[in-house]
Amino acid sequence: MKSIHIDGIGDPCLVKTDHRLLEVLTERGVPLTMACGGKGLCATCHVFVVEGSDNLSKQTPREERALKMLADRRPNSRLACQAKVTGDGVRVSVPSGRYLLDTGDLGALVGRRAEEAILHPIDGRLLIAPGKIITRSRIQELRSVDIDVAEMKTRSLSIRRR
Ligand code: FES
Repeated sequence: MKSIHIDGIGDPCLVKTDHRLLEVLTERGVPLTMACGGKGLCATCHVFVVEGSDNLSKQTPREERALKMLADRRPNSRLACQAKVTGDGVRVSVPSGRYLLDTGDLGALVGRRAEEAILHPIDGRLLIAPGKIITRSRIQELRSVDIDVAEMKTRSLSIRRR
């Protein structure tokens, strides 16, 4: 077992050696959407590794490709579904905001202000800033997100998990 720290969760978390960050994050109730089912195709398990990056597995070519698409990528960005914990002392934080998976989910919020950033589920780009009023026309403009999500899910189904 290895010990890691998740910002916002007081106690250190234990994870089996070589298990993915994703497992410990979901186990501890961190709300990760995992839109692609953990196959390295989306932004919804994006985390920042604040400490201990040497104690994670190396990035795979697939993870590198996915990270390059992220609008909010930093040098310490990783995908929790691809990074395996190999040693103690990893500390991660989760980007703030909510990933949009279906523009239909915004219908109930028309006329209200976004309480948090609403982000693209594949590249993490900001779609609606916190405090902005959600309008029908903005939802209409975001319809391409539904197509992007459908394409990503199709690709995800065609990839076997490692
Ligand atoms: S869940 Fe999609 S990249 Fe990790």
